[in-house]
Amino acid sequence: MEPQIGIGVIGLGWMGRVHTASHRRVLEHFPELGVRPRLVMGADVSLERRAHAERVGFEATSEDWRAVVENPLVDAISVTVPNAMHREIAVAAIEAGKHVWVEKPVGLGAADTEAVATAARRAGVVTTVGFCYRFAPAVQRARALIRAGDIGEVNHYRGVFLADYANRPDGAASWRFFREDAGSGALGDLMAHVVDMAQHLVAPIKRCSGRTATMISRRPRPPAGEGGTHFSRVSGEDLVDVGNEDWAAALFEFEGGMVGSLEASRVIVGPRTRMRFEVHGTRGALAWELERMNELEYFALSDDGTDDGYTTILAGAGHPDFAAFQPGAGVPMGYDDLRVLEARNFLASVRDGEQREPGVDDMLACARVLEAIERSAASGAWESAR
Ligand SMILES: NC(=O)c1ccc[n+]([C@@H]2O[C@H](COP(=O)([O-])OP(=O)(O)OC[C@H]3O[C@@H](n4cnc5c(N)ncnc54)[C@H](O)[C@@H]3O)[C@@H](O)[C@H]2O)c1
Repeated sequence: MEPQIGIGVIGLGWMGRVHTASHRRVLEHFPELGVRPRLVMGADVSLERRAHAERVGFEATSEDWRAVVENPLVDAISVTVPNAMHREIAVAAIEAGKHVWVEKPVGLGAADTEAVATAARRAGVVTTVGFCYRFAPAVQRARALIRAGDIGEVNHYRGVFLADYANRPDGAASWRFFREDAGSGALGDLMAHVVDMAQHLVAPIKRCSGRTATMISRRPRPPAGEGGTHFSRVSGEDLVDVGNEDWAAALFEFEGGMVGSLEASRVIVGPRTRMRFEVHGTRGALAWELERMNELEYFALSDDGTDDGYTTILAGAGHPDFAAFQPGAGVPMGYDDLRVLEARNFLASVRDGEQREPGVDDMLACARVLEAIERSAASGAWESAR
């Protein structure tokens, strides 16, 4: 049997379950991986979540995350707790010699991300950050087409993440709505994906002119002892102030001068989880969105323009990684499959002892853009993201 990689997961909520499931599924889709993840230990303060983790295959669980970091059978750790704990836990794991798969936005801001990046460089361990949308086969194809010059020279980019998870005033004030727990709001939660995608597909972002707003400024406190999630709704009059932004937008300039706009909202009414990009070049254009993640919109400028229009390409076996999940185009892949691709990338990185993208350095480049947007919203001026 192939060598095992001992897995720890700290934070067994939504993302902890997704990371765990990805490890359980990865050999089903990539039997040639050459290493076998072994679910050694999970940690969460919630008894119910620990019980679930044991039911789905963890050999042990603890309410104390340090038990995972100190466990000699654990080689690699997922950090899937709320943002405020990313830095302390990721740095402790790295200093204990563990490889780390940490969720975005890696802390409360760029200083936290930088501390994790520095620790990883010093310890020589590999990191992966949860920029899962990079792995969608249609996105991988779009990147290859852009790199091959198929749409000519890119001169304009539009990226959005319009989510409705908090669009009702009775949406619970869970950890995501407080600076001390989450750092920024829509910026760290959603715009991080938008910024990373832009930088992944086109080029580093150089400067931004940003705005932020909070549309729902007070929300009901979740019942005592139960944090709720950002999808929970609560009735009652016990309202608390929201500490971070619901919406953020920016005009921006890439290195090289190409321009564009970015926008993220967690309170939009209409779109559900509409993460979308549009890349426009001198000879064509590409567009993709998460709500229809198996479709790539492709436009090629013709000579006379009579029949110019977008073609919709369905992701299929000819596109990167698709065939590991489904044999034929039109049978859709889903969000969880992207996380399996991310697990494969992380485990291969651990196997080879070689840093692959996206790692904490990619999050750091992203965090600097997020902070430039925030600074610009306060100063009213263009701010550098470098
Ligand atoms: N990449 C993506 O697509 C994506 C999607 C959602 C969330 N995220 C990120 O994942 C992280 C977690 O988000 P989530 O939605 O899973 O949150 P969640 O609230 O569902 O889960 C967080 C878990 O951490 C646990 N926890 C809290 N304090 C703890 C402690 N001291 N020790 C151990 N466990 C503790 C909670 O009990 C909970 O189970 C966040 O950083 C978020 O930004 C990424």
